[in-house]
Amino acid sequence: MSIHIGAEPGDIAERVLMPGDPLRAKWIAETYLDDAKCYTQVRGMLGYTGRWQGVEVSVQGSGMGMPSASIYTHELINDYGVKTLIRVGSCGALTEDLQLRDVIAASGASTDSYMNRARFDGLIDYAPVADFSLLRNAVDIAERRGISMRVGPILAADAFYTDRPDLFDTLADYGVLAVEMESAALYTIAMRFKARALTLLTVSDHIKTGEKTTSQEREQTFGQMVEIALDTAIA
Ligand code: HPA
Repeated sequence: MSIHIGAEPGDIAERVLMPGDPLRAKWIAETYLDDAKCYTQVRGMLGYTGRWQGVEVSVQGSGMGMPSASIYTHELINDYGVKTLIRVGSCGALTEDLQLRDVIAASGASTDSYMNRARFDGLIDYAPVADFSLLRNAVDIAERRGISMRVGPILAADAFYTDRPDLFDTLADYGVLAVEMESAALYTIAMRFKARALTLLTVSDHIKTGEKTTSQEREQTFGQMVEIALDTAIA
């Protein structure tokens, strides 16, 4: 058992999908994996291992935000030997050309979090990026499945609610597609401990227009994204 995951060594596959919401982890395991078994319920942050196309895959909730996602990422890699982590999450779109339910692969993650500034003593603005092989495979798989997927940079923000929405416009001017709350930490920790990481997102709300998806719509597009993630995990 690690501090936050109630699994024995060997219970978790080398390839893990990571939704923020633990009930999404349960839904993914029950909907897509063969012989899925729950290996942890610590703090309600559910984790499952099963098989996708005959290959062992796990699904582990990460919680919301970089402090929580960092804990699960760190323990999965260092305590359970996980080599491939694919976050499957939702995001708010920042650019006008994105629509609700669009799927995004995050090539890199800017952040307003202090975590990396502390890591590098305030001397370096580290640029957290996706693993190239995972990104390339995800793009190929989306194309083969006929799902259009945008590839580009995102913002991993500490706060969901902000007093400075004007900064979102500036970030959009600089090509940042969307905002979520985990990927800068995921990419940094994966790099640090020699694992591969990628984030796939579906647009659940639009920051510019204020539009939001219904929960039913979210479920449907979430499924397409999860299928890309599962195929990428075993590619
Ligand atoms: N902000 C931050 N994270 C998010 C959002 C958002 O608007 N939507 C989904 N995840």
